[in-house]
Amino acid sequence: MKSIASAPGKVILFGEHFVVHGTKAILCAIDKRVTVYAKTIPDKIVIKSDIGDITCDLDVKLTEINSPLKPLLYLAKRLSKKYDYNFGMSIMVKSEIPSGMGLGSSSACCVAGAAAIYTLFDKPDKEEILKLAIDAEKTIYSDSSGADCTVSIHGGIMIYHNGKFVKIRDVPNFNIIISNSNIVHSTKNMVSKVKEFKEKNSKEFSKMCDIENKLVDNATSLIKKNDLKQLGRCMTQNQDLLKNIGISNDKLNKMIKIANQVTYGSKITGAGGGGCIISLSDNIQDVINYLKENKIECLSAKIDFKGFLTD
Ligand code: MEV
Repeated sequence: MKSIASAPGKVILFGEHFVVHGTKAILCAIDKRVTVYAKTIPDKIVIKSDIGDITCDLDVKLTEINSPLKPLLYLAKRLSKKYDYNFGMSIMVKSEIPSGMGLGSSSACCVAGAAAIYTLFDKPDKEEILKLAIDAEKTIYSDSSGADCTVSIHGGIMIYHNGKFVKIRDVPNFNIIISNSNIVHSTKNMVSKVKEFKEKNSKEFSKMCDIENKLVDNATSLIKKNDLKQLGRCMTQNQDLLKNIGISNDKLNKMIKIANQVTYGSKITGAGGGGCIISLSDNIQDVINYLKENKIECLSAKIDFKGFLTD
């Protein structure tokens, strides 16, 4: 038996980190995908990807595995048990999304992996696949808000709040400029860092959460109006909050300063500490040229409206 599934990466337009602590966030699926090929084989689980390989027995203990591919192994084991399957599986991952850069490569891998392995045994079920993908992501960091997997499953732009989401309908397919710091980060470590900040500064953090919720409300109506100029300003305000909770750094601040000279506004996207910044503009090519002249690696992405796909 064979199956193929793919899922898009994402950018967080507003609300990363705060979303882990119960505020709203706005996420957007992007037109860069992870594809997972799954196949039943006689014995062993064999996982191959650009970031490493795993070969092991089906009964291996997950606690013995220290690999970014652990979510796929978790999915293979869980679904084999569910469907009473006792043989092996080959899982191959192909990704257009750089890993550790805040663009949702890991959640897209969990979604595509859950969808590919699930459809080896059964007809695709969106809700089941989402639950599996979030549980798989939690084998890497248990505090995951689930937001990244949710937007990867459904595609488009959505407001995510405490495990629930609302899609923003009829959005114009604007371009998002993504610039890469080339500093790899660990989402798990950055989420722990913010948790510590919250414990030490609870009142300040709670005020910031209120500001973030207002920013999300404001940004939602600006997205519907396609007002990129004001939306960019909101992003810059969101960046101030992210800076205050300690997830920016000198390189990201410098990139944001340069990008803001030619765009409507910029911010970190995802866990921070490295990874990418996003910016908005109506003059995409001019901005890209300017950023490249300033030695900033960048690309423009469009919204993915499809979400996860199975063959
Ligand atoms: C990571 O892409 C987004 C964070 O908000 C973590 C999460 O929501 O699980 C930093």
